Amino acid sequence: MLVTESIEEIRNTVKLWKREKLKVGFVPTMGALHDGHLALIKQAKKKSDRVVVSIFVNPEQFGPNEDFDHYPRQLEEDLKICRKVRAAAVFTPEVPDMYPGEKFFSISINELNQHMCGASRPGFFEGIVLVVNKLFNIIDPDIAVFGQKDIQQFLIIKQMAREFNLRVKLEMGKIIRANDGLALSSRNAYLSNDERLLAPSLYRSLSYIEKQISNGIDKPELLIAHQKNELEAKGFKIDYLNVFSLNNIKPVEKLEKGGNYILAGAVYLGKTRLIDNILLEL
Ligand code: PAF
Repeated sequence: MLVTESIEEIRNTVKLWKREKLKVGFVPTMGALHDGHLALIKQAKKKSDRVVVSIFVNPEQFGPNEDFDHYPRQLEEDLKICRKVRAAAVFTPEVPDMYPGEKFFSISINELNQHMCGASRPGFFEGIVLVVNKLFNIIDPDIAVFGQKDIQQFLIIKQMAREFNLRVKLEMGKIIRANDGLALSSRNAYLSNDERLLAPSLYRSLSYIEKQISNGIDKPELLIAHQKNELEAKGFKIDYLNVFSLNNIKPVEKLEKGGNYILAGAVYLGKTRLIDNILLEL
C-alpha cells in the first residue's frame, strides 16, 4: 500500500493505474477510521480496481470555536486499518500541501445549506466542497464513496458534481451502527462513559418518529416536539430534529405519499455533537 503526503506522487500513481485501464475508487476521510469508513472502503473496492483513501483533517470546514485542534488523529492506527482492508494507496497531505498560499477564490453555496447542519455551522459546507473539489482534482477518481450519516454533505457534493460537470460518479454508503444503534462517528471518541450510554437515544427518537410516520402520521410536528422534550430531559441540547425534503433539504410540515424525506437530528451531549438520520420513502 502506497502511503504518501505528496500530491505529485499520488497523481502519478493514479495516472499509471489509469494507463493500465484500472478503475479508481476514492474514499475521502478525516482519519480516526472506524467500521463506518471500513464499509465505505469495501464498497469502493467492489466498484473499482484500486482504492485511494485520503486522510486529511481539513481546517477549512471547522469554525473558530469548533474542535479542529482536538479532532482525533491516529495515523498509524488508520494505516493499519487501510492495509487490512487492502486499500491501494493512502494520501495523507499536510495543511500546507493542500493550502499552500493565499486563497483568492472560494466556492459559495446558494442552496441546500440553509437548514440542517448548514444552518448552525456557517462555512462548514463551503469548506467541505473546497477540499473535496481539490481532492477530486488531485486523485481524479472514477467513483467516490461518502457515508449517509453525513447525508447533507453527500447531497451537496452530488449537486456540485452535477453543476460543475465532474467526471466522478458518487455513491452513498449506509450508516453503520453500534449494537445499541449509535451511528459510528470519529467524534464518538469524545463521549464519556455515561454520555456513551445515553448517546443511542437520538437514534431511538428518530426510529420512534419513523415508526409513527409509517403508521400514517403525516404532520409530525407534535411528535417531533415531544421527542425533543424527551431528549432534553435526558440532558441533550437540540440543534435540530426535523423532517426535510430529500430534494432541497428544506423542512417539511406535511408529508405526501410518494415523497422522499430525510428524518434527521443533530444534538449536543456535553461538548460532543452527534448527528444521525433515517431516509423516508413514503
Ligand atoms: O466526511 C468527512 O470526513 C469530511 O467532511 C470529508 C468528506 C473527508 C472532507 O473533509
